[in-house]
Amino acid sequence: MADPFLIGDGMTGGYGPVDILHNCTISVEKGQIAVIVGPNGAGKSTAMKAVFGMLNLRGGAVRLNGEDITRLTPQARVRKGMGFVPQTHNIFTSMTVEENLEMGAFIRTDDTIRDTIEQIYTLFPILKQKRNQAAGELSGGQRQQVAVGRALMTQPSVLMLDEPTAGVSPIVMDELFDRIIEIARTGISILMVEQNARQALEIADKGYVLVQGANRFTDTGKALMADPEVRRSFLGG
Ligand SMILES: Nc1ncnc2c1ncn2[C@@H]1O[C@H](COP(=O)(O)OP(=O)(O)O)[C@@H](O)[C@H]1O
Ligand SMILES: [Mg+2]
Repeated sequence: MADPFLIGDGMTGGYGPVDILHNCTISVEKGQIAVIVGPNGAGKSTAMKAVFGMLNLRGGAVRLNGEDITRLTPQARVRKGMGFVPQTHNIFTSMTVEENLEMGAFIRTDDTIRDTIEQIYTLFPILKQKRNQAAGELSGGQRQQVAVGRALMTQPSVLMLDEPTAGVSPIVMDELFDRIIEIARTGISILMVEQNARQALEIADKGYVLVQGANRFTDTGKALMADPEVRRSFLGG
């Protein structure tokens, strides 16, 4: 069977001698949305870091489009088409919105960076209005738009988002999810961690419930939403 477009396959490892991830597998297909949910401290962010190369794995592998990238640095993975928005510290607060986007293009040497910035302004019109404002002055939802926009500046084939809707209102969350769906429809794979589990699983082609660094449930978003045990234990009934 062919590999998924991006897979962290049987990942085991942690930050020191103690493993956080235990044979954890996460994957996403081309142009699809995969969502990771689970309790606080389950290892969701650690799994994302592992897939992005910020963690030394003791076991398992990461493959992108069939290529083993397990030993590549995060920078090298960006060059291979991966974009990552970390859970915290994901924008330069003292720089303007537009400077953040320009910084996002750091690996590019072509002359169409301006076009990409305009595409991001089309996706997130408020950012165009606030282009000359310091990113740190923006609302939580707008800052997350800057972070996603910055990651899109490298024109990734897969976009990894760690809790993109953290701390935003339900309306802003819905809007952000709509934009994420829009991004996926352009063929970009989305791998995201979400605290808003119900809403995220609703838009997920594939869902993962992680507990204590291991896969507990894996299925389509729809099937997970319908599973009584998943509902009771992880979705509040
Ligand atoms: N930089 C780090 N150094 C050591 N331990 C960490 C670090 N980051 C997270 N951990 C630990 O790893 C476990 C999983 O954390 P994390 O991946 O952040 O969980 P989640 O994102 O699911 O809330 C927790 O026990 C946490 O304390
Ligand atoms: Mg986390």
